[in-house]
Amino acid sequence: MASSSLSVVLILCLAAAALAQLSTTFYNKSCPLALEKIQNSAATAVKNDRRMAASLLRMHFHDCFVQGCDASVLLNETSVGGNERGAFGKVGSLRGFEVIEQIKKDVEAVCGPVVSCVDILAVAAPNNRACVGGPSWEVKLGRRDSTTASVTQANQNLPVPFLGVAGLNASFVSKGFNLTDMVALSGAHTIGRAQCQNFRGRHYNESNINTTYATKLKLNCPSPATNLAPLDDDTAVAPNPELFNNDYFINLQSKKGLLHSDQVLYNATAAGCATKDIIKSLGRLL
Ligand code: HEM
Ligand SMILES: *[C@@H]1O[C@H](CO)[C@@H](O)[C@H](O)[C@H]1NC(C)=O
Ligand SMILES: *[C@@H]1O[C@H](CO)[C@@H](O)[C@H](O)[C@H]1NC(C)=O
Ligand SMILES: *[C@@H]1O[C@H](CO)[C@@H](O)[C@H](O)[C@H]1NC(C)=O
Ligand SMILES: *[C@@H]1O[C@H](CO)[C@@H](O)[C@H](O)[C@H]1NC(C)=O
Ligand SMILES: *[C@@H]1O[C@H](CO)[C@@H](O)[C@H](O)[C@H]1NC(C)=O
Ligand SMILES: *[C@@H]1O[C@H](CO)[C@@H](O)[C@H](O)[C@H]1NC(C)=O
Ligand SMILES: *[C@@H]1O[C@H](CO)[C@@H](O)[C@H](O)[C@H]1NC(C)=O
Repeated sequence: MASSSLSVVLILCLAAAALAQLSTTFYNKSCPLALEKIQNSAATAVKNDRRMAASLLRMHFHDCFVQGCDASVLLNETSVGGNERGAFGKVGSLRGFEVIEQIKKDVEAVCGPVVSCVDILAVAAPNNRACVGGPSWEVKLGRRDSTTASVTQANQNLPVPFLGVAGLNASFVSKGFNLTDMVALSGAHTIGRAQCQNFRGRHYNESNINTTYATKLKLNCPSPATNLAPLDDDTAVAPNPELFNNDYFINLQSKKGLLHSDQVLYNATAAGCATKDIIKSLGRLL
């Protein structure tokens, strides 16, 4: 299975973020149906909108990179520290808030308010195998929701797509991740979409891009800046950009990364070439 090495790394990465007292059986007594409810509601949302699998995964990432995994991404009032969704002025880029709200309601209908929003985010994110394939992982539960958010930290801590390897590394190192973690986690870009404004500088101005691919992107992306393209052109293993597989790593090897921050990971001149070797190993056609 092409995705097995990727799934192992992903599981290790996410497990590292868990605290000792967290447990996979945290809600067994207080809300035995919690996992099933969350998973079913998330699956329904993804069935209605396949991109939602990507959007929920990204929301989990954005939550965890700001004040730790604490659901602060859901808060949006100035009085609690601001609206993290609006970091970088990118209001409207994160998607799926209404899905999380619906799941919370569904879970409360059977158990009351015992299940935290951060646990809902953590369980909803990986649970989309049935719809988009790829790995799932067991999530340790029992995290508490924050009552504060930080738009300042969101602006400082979330990596932007214009960074090079050093800047990306600094961002992930500050969260306790190494280069292998960083490359594996970037593999989340095997699903989902990005807006032109986040990559048009690359296909118009960079040389480290497949010319066929650049031509294709230009057709869709002279304007407006909100047009979308798949983060993973996804033709190497299966001709479907919505599937979670290792095509992201394969495509980087033929210069078909969508974001600057994707392609730099496979830049032969990047420090020590470590990220290049990681991509080659995750992108092996097995
Ligand atoms: C390495 C640093 C990263 C950068 C610079 C980055 C940047 C971006 C950007 C610019 C977009 C498109 C947003 C838009 O145009 O509205 C995006 C989308 C996405 N990102 Fe990342 N990202 C990074 C890492 C990650 C990680 C670690 C994950 C999860 C594990 C992730 C998951 C996603 C997903 C799933 C989407 C698609 C969301 C959708 O279609 O709604 N990204 N990312
Ligand atoms: C990177 O961290 C992961 C755990 O997150 C660990 O399994 C792996 O050995 C580390 N890799 C290196 C090269 O240090
Ligand atoms: C908790 O619930 C899960 C799922 O229902 C079950 O597989 C597991 O055995 C339970 N664990 C404990 C310690 O009760
Ligand atoms: C916060 O989000 C809620 C629910 O999505 C919305 O009703 C409210 O208007 C938002 N408030 C601000 C200040 O953006
Ligand atoms: C990543 O950051 C760490 C800690 O600052 C540093 O030791 C390492 O050289 C950096 N690696 C790259 C490739 O920038
Ligand atoms: C390409 O680079 C030129 C010169 O630096 C700049 O003026 C132009 O805005 C860039 N194009 C895009 C799409 O970023
Ligand atoms: C560019 O993409 C085309 C079409 O997918 C592929 O045949 C070609 O080998 C790629 N070129 C390079 C330099 O990787
Ligand atoms: C690759 O690295 C070189 C040297 O650091 C740099 O000049 C070039 O812009 C990088 N390419 C990309 C696509 O980032």
